[in-house]
Amino acid sequence: MAAVVLAPSILAADFARLGDQVRQAEGAGAGWFHVDVMDGHFVPNLSIGLPVLESLRAVSDSFLDVHLMMDNPGPFLELFAKAGADLITIHQEVSPHLHRDIHEIRRLGCRAGVALNPSTPPDTLREMLPAIDLVLCMTVNPGFGGQQFIPEVLDKVARVRRMQAEMNIDSLHVEVDGGIGVSNARQAAAAGADVLVAGSSVFRGPGTIEENYTAIRASLAVAV
Ligand code: DX5
Ligand code: ZN
Repeated sequence: MAAVVLAPSILAADFARLGDQVRQAEGAGAGWFHVDVMDGHFVPNLSIGLPVLESLRAVSDSFLDVHLMMDNPGPFLELFAKAGADLITIHQEVSPHLHRDIHEIRRLGCRAGVALNPSTPPDTLREMLPAIDLVLCMTVNPGFGGQQFIPEVLDKVARVRRMQAEMNIDSLHVEVDGGIGVSNARQAAAAGADVLVAGSSVFRGPGTIEENYTAIRASLAVAV
């Protein structure tokens, strides 16, 4: 199995102690963090935005993966790039001009991702697959941390990998996001996911942040 990234989602962190908590996860080996931006329209919740991303960028050299759960991301892409995003993911469901948005993200010097809700098929991504760096298969309905993992989505992960093989695309990340922890991380990786986002199970798990992160990593080495 190729190298798998375990990316803590800061949505589940204590925002009053964000820098410390990110450092703790980094101490356990994390080098990629997932940043959830919610607009109260595309998803029924609000979260964080540019100021928090800027503050995080100022205290961390880790890779910052920004997941935009917003209706109209186009006018904000440059602001997120300037605030320190390394990768910007937009939702397929809200982007009729995916080609323009993806090329804009790349022009800004970021990697580009496209997210699919659990009910969105991956087939519509075929045209764009060669131009994107990451497909995010949501394993919960976006909007909240701490929800239950939807196992059927792993079939979609495998379908994205098959599409990648058919199209002879060398490099593509497939990310899963929502409800990931020790009980299913290995299964998600076996289906073809190489970026596993984990919020509650890292920042609100049974042990310290270091212990939780290490336990999920260790679970990846166990046979399914
Ligand atoms: C949900 C977000 C997720 C969330 C995952 O809308 O996109 O990134 O933080 O949280 P957990 O791991 O707690 O399900
Ligand atoms: Zn997310």
